[in-house]
Amino acid sequence: MEKELIDVDLSMKFDSLSVLENIRFKVHENEFLVIVGPSGCGKTTMARLLAGLQKPTSGHVTMRGESISPKVHNISIVFQEPSCIPWRTLWDDITMGLVIKGVDQSAIKKRAEEVIKLVGLDGFEEYFPKQLSGGMKQRVAIARAYATNPDLLLMDEPFGHLDAQTRYLMQIEIMRIWEKEKKTVVFITNNIEEAVYLATRIIVFSKLPARIKAEYRIELPRPRKLTTPEFLGVRSEVTEQCEVVER
Ligand SMILES: Nc1ncnc2c1ncn2[C@@H]1O[C@H](COP(=O)(O)OP(=O)(O)OP(=O)(O)O)[C@@H](O)[C@H]1O
Ligand SMILES: [Mg+2]
Repeated sequence: MEKELIDVDLSMKFDSLSVLENIRFKVHENEFLVIVGPSGCGKTTMARLLAGLQKPTSGHVTMRGESISPKVHNISIVFQEPSCIPWRTLWDDITMGLVIKGVDQSAIKKRAEEVIKLVGLDGFEEYFPKQLSGGMKQRVAIARAYATNPDLLLMDEPFGHLDAQTRYLMQIEIMRIWEKEKKTVVFITNNIEEAVYLATRIIVFSKLPARIKAEYRIELPRPRKLTTPEFLGVRSEVTEQCEVVER
């Protein structure tokens, strides 16, 4: 049985600009929900609302019935831009959230070792960001996000700046990580192929002001292959609902 974690029912305006209109959906525990929509439609705004960093103009976002708040709930976010701090080593970067939470030293060491291994960065603990590739920096961001065992892991176009090949490798990687340590993930992208590759469920946003255009449960077996007729069939079905035509 699916367990409901988050309930979203909201609209959002910035002054007179309507960005999100009647957005209603639920997020279930341990699912990999992908929100796909064209550039500028309001995806980052949706991410900020889901993280409790912003309040909707009307409606709500609740987690287990309680208004969502970064002070109350454990939410991790991975952004599009690599967000490593130049003078922090990979180890310091990944343990930062645990230190802030006041976790004791031995538990920090254990969890950091676990997540560094999980993202395949063992051996690079003392590296500084300038010594890491773009893909490695995103792995650091994922490890940092995983480290605190978040109730919700939000990813806002985390692979958007990577080249196509690294992006593909990171998609494989994030699936491997999620299958090993299941978290509730809301992953945001404008890339339909990426959405079909990753999702247990896809919600399609329209262009601005975003409304929910369609919803799909993706039941393709894993690991998914981008070239099978089944994959291409689902991909073209989702593409038809999107107002962007993929490159
Ligand atoms: N703080 C803000 N104040 C005013 N307008 C905003 C604010 N944040 C976002 N907007 C507007 O809301 C709309 C949606 O922006 P948002 O960043 O959510 O889109 P997006 O789907 O994430 O775009 P992209 O795919 O390019 O990342 C844009 O028109 C933007 O100008
Ligand atoms: Mg955005």
